[in-house]
Amino acid sequence: MIKTNKTKPRVFSGVQPSGNLHLGNYLGAIRQFVELQEDHECIYCIVDMHAITVPQDPKALREHVLDLASLYMAVGIDPRKSIIFVQSDVPGHAELNWILTCNSYTGELSRMTQFKSKSHGKESSPTGLFCYPVLMAADILLYDTDIVPVGNDQKQHIELCRDIATRVNNTIKETFVVPEGRFMKAGARIMALDDPTQKMSKSATNIHSTISLLDQPNKIKKSIMKATTDSDGEIRFDVENKPGVSNLMTIYSVLSGESMADIETSYRGKGYGDFKKDLVGVVQESLAPIQARYEEIRHSEQLIRDLKDGAERAGAIAEVVMKRVKDTFGLGLGM
Ligand code: AMP
Ligand code: TRP
Repeated sequence: MIKTNKTKPRVFSGVQPSGNLHLGNYLGAIRQFVELQEDHECIYCIVDMHAITVPQDPKALREHVLDLASLYMAVGIDPRKSIIFVQSDVPGHAELNWILTCNSYTGELSRMTQFKSKSHGKESSPTGLFCYPVLMAADILLYDTDIVPVGNDQKQHIELCRDIATRVNNTIKETFVVPEGRFMKAGARIMALDDPTQKMSKSATNIHSTISLLDQPNKIKKSIMKATTDSDGEIRFDVENKPGVSNLMTIYSVLSGESMADIETSYRGKGYGDFKKDLVGVVQESLAPIQARYEEIRHSEQLIRDLKDGAERAGAIAEVVMKRVKDTFGLGLGM
């Protein structure tokens, strides 16, 4: 057993600072972050080094980092209960990334579906995109993480992280805590409003495909009223045959706390228009308080102080783990 100085199970997760968070990010991942901080030691990271796997405007990237940090806090992550920090402020991520790169295989990385879709099957694509999951494994293993709350789309990356950790533990020396993913049942995969066969994504080109947590009431209304449904007119949860309606019902259910059965009962005999109108209200009411808190936090000096403090606390944990890792591999002078 690896000796760690944890008093509670440790949680780690990260989100890319590449534009505003959308409902998929919130319902699939970040809502769990808030719940977990009550009885876990939580570390939440803004993964700016993952963001540069695709070209970024440097000024905009820094702004997006602060936007995301503010949103983390606005949805209820408390920087006094949890650690919130920027990935590149703790050098251990890059260090461990290299060591893990030397312990992973092109075969397993080529199988990652996210890489396959992002590289569009081209013969040559950026190495960073290919190695993205190794950096993610480094993020997680750097903190002796027990639990990684993420959306369903990250399952394969979590498996890879577990494989790399187990491989090092078994073939070299017991070094890493092998983490578990934690996936939410309802809302784990929110689909695009304009095409319910695709997941809601930050990179969508149609603005009505997603709802950002910072969208104004009018925009929310427009996007929901335009959302793709089907022609049978019945409000019924059936992902396979009615993906659009089921996606809207998922959003309604998770935000309002009402079960699918209750929603089906209340909308029996009513049309999609009625249901959509009510969903607009549910989403607007859920996002209004988050947006108000965001405005307060985003330009406060406290935000920067909290992120610096987070990086120091994260760095202290990472240092202990990096010393163990360097000992395992015989790196440095071992001081
Ligand atoms: P990303 O936007 O890719 O940086 O993802 C941040 C977090 O949100 C990850 O844990 C994802 O799994 C989750 N996520 C992203 N898109 C969705 C979606 N459409 N539905 C549910 N979760 C999502
Ligand atoms: N790859 C994750 C995503 O796209 C973001 C991420 C980076 C992450 N490092 C992580 C998530 C570590 C959990 C743990 O959503």
